[in-house]
Amino acid sequence: MASLPQLALEATRLQGKVALITGGAGGIGACMARLFTRHGAKVIVADIRDELGQAVCNDIGLESASYVHCDVTKESDVETAVKTAISKDQKLDIMVNNAASIDEAKPSIADNEVSEFDRVLSVNLTGPFLGTKHAAKVMIPERKGSIINVGSVCSSVGGVATHAYTSSKHGLVGLTKNVAAELGKYGIRVNCVSPYVIPNVAAKDFFKLGGDGFSSSVYTNLEGVYLQEEDVAGAALYLASDESKYVSGHNLAIDGGFTSINPIFGLFSRSK
Ligand SMILES: NC(=O)c1ccc[n+]([C@@H]2O[C@H](COP(=O)([O-])OP(=O)(O)OC[C@H]3O[C@@H](n4cnc5c(N)ncnc54)[C@H](O)[C@@H]3O)[C@@H](O)[C@H]2O)c1
Repeated sequence: MASLPQLALEATRLQGKVALITGGAGGIGACMARLFTRHGAKVIVADIRDELGQAVCNDIGLESASYVHCDVTKESDVETAVKTAISKDQKLDIMVNNAASIDEAKPSIADNEVSEFDRVLSVNLTGPFLGTKHAAKVMIPERKGSIINVGSVCSSVGGVATHAYTSSKHGLVGLTKNVAAELGKYGIRVNCVSPYVIPNVAAKDFFKLGGDGFSSSVYTNLEGVYLQEEDVAGAALYLASDESKYVSGHNLAIDGGFTSINPIFGLFSRSK
């Protein structure tokens, strides 16, 4: 059980801050919404799954969380989501571009349809561009803010997911760095969190990992540890809070070393 000083510290990490989280109706986004509010923030959950998004907010408590319908590929929806934060809470401190989509894995690029490629790029890259643009418009006059993009191990290595998804997540790191270069002069930080595979609904669907297939078939560098949504939410909490006040333009891998280590030579391979 947490001690009293520890609880007090937790309650102040995002105290008084307002966060907009896209794709917050489930998975990592919903986990972030819950964690951020536990740390004192007010959150706006933006998604296209209205019933689920509203249910997440009801569960958190409507004094701390509100839902707005927002298709991140539509500029007017993104603008409305940002305006919702301003009209409800008078400001926006944290923008989390988390919503994403993936296409079906095909064995050959020859089988990939341009329409699917465009669709994935539109959600995963144009969406964060629009989220960043409209968040920046309200953050610039305040001369502060934290923008967090949710990347992936596919932001830095190939061969894990589809061409469209990998291209979009690499592009997202480029967007993160470029906007960090522009917005630093206004005190606005822009970062990316890039998780490895979490055995949640979205990943199990994509990798077709039923039951406990995840633990037996997916490589992990850290023995006996599996990534959870809470780990990604915790990293976003750090980037959202003032504890990371000197961190910008960074891609924070939450991958147990997966993208830093090439195990092929087996120098430190496990004996069993
Ligand atoms: N699950 C993983 O293993 C994993 C690994 C690495 C990175 N990620 C990234 O984490 C983020 C969250 O993924 P997740 O696993 O929670 O997936 P998820 O499918 O549970 O959540 C994604 C959310 O985005 C929403 N969404 C989709 N299209 C949208 C649109 N056009 N407008 C608004 N909302 C839209 C969905 O409704 C959903 O609620 C994504 O950026 C994903 O790429 C996930």
